[in-house]
Amino acid sequence: MTRTPLMAGNWKSNLNHQEAVVLVQKLAWTLKDAKYSASQVEVAVFPPFTDIRSVQTTIESDRLEFAYGAQDLSPFDSGAHTGDVSGEFLAKLGCTYVIVGHSERRTDHGEDDETVAAKSRAALSHGLTPVICVGETAVDREAHGASAVPVAQLRVVLETLSKDSDIVVAYEPVWAIGSGQAATPLEAQEVCAVLRATIAEVMGSDAADRTRILYGGSVKSQNIASFMREKDVDGALVGGASLDVDEFSRIVQFPKHIIA
Ligand code: PGA
Repeated sequence: MTRTPLMAGNWKSNLNHQEAVVLVQKLAWTLKDAKYSASQVEVAVFPPFTDIRSVQTTIESDRLEFAYGAQDLSPFDSGAHTGDVSGEFLAKLGCTYVIVGHSERRTDHGEDDETVAAKSRAALSHGLTPVICVGETAVDREAHGASAVPVAQLRVVLETLSKDSDIVVAYEPVWAIGSGQAATPLEAQEVCAVLRATIAEVMGSDAADRTRILYGGSVKSQNIASFMREKDVDGALVGGASLDVDEFSRIVQFPKHIIA
């Protein structure tokens, strides 16, 4: 089974809606010059909520080959939940994906695995593909090894989903996020392989074969090719480097680095 690589740009709380349009247009020009084809590598951007309508309009009117999604969603469909943005609204804006369980939300907003599971189900119920983030802190790694916490986090979510669910998993060691200190490709591969085995165990081998597992944490153009050589790494969730058009477009063009 060949899985189309996915390069996902998580903008976090950066770029207003005008800056978002400029970035998307520049990215499109840069990748067009580089003869980028979406059949080889899928590109997705994850702007703040307030940018999504503008990003949608830019992508649709210029017929750009980019997917987009939100960085979070409500576990509820509608109602008295001040500040929540429901999956229904995101689907209406043409989102394909939504990130759930990013470590910054787990830490800043106290989201636990059950909340991440509820958000994943809410996404799927509206036809959105959840990008389910898991990862260990440095303390977890020291105490339990690299894979114990990410596997436990993922298992709680998977056990509540139907086996044919379309999901993406992102392995992001918390110590590697924004630190400039990425995991080694081998460290990433080892955990991604165990995560894939967990998907196989809970959802079956078809799900394990088709589900893309991304690595995230200080991904740059200099290290992306070495991650993508690993058999269980199907792409990257890129934070800081996705805000720099030239750098992100070099990341998207990783097959050129591999050939070179
Ligand atoms: P980083 O962030 O690439 O800036 O390390 C990754 C992420 O948090 O998704």
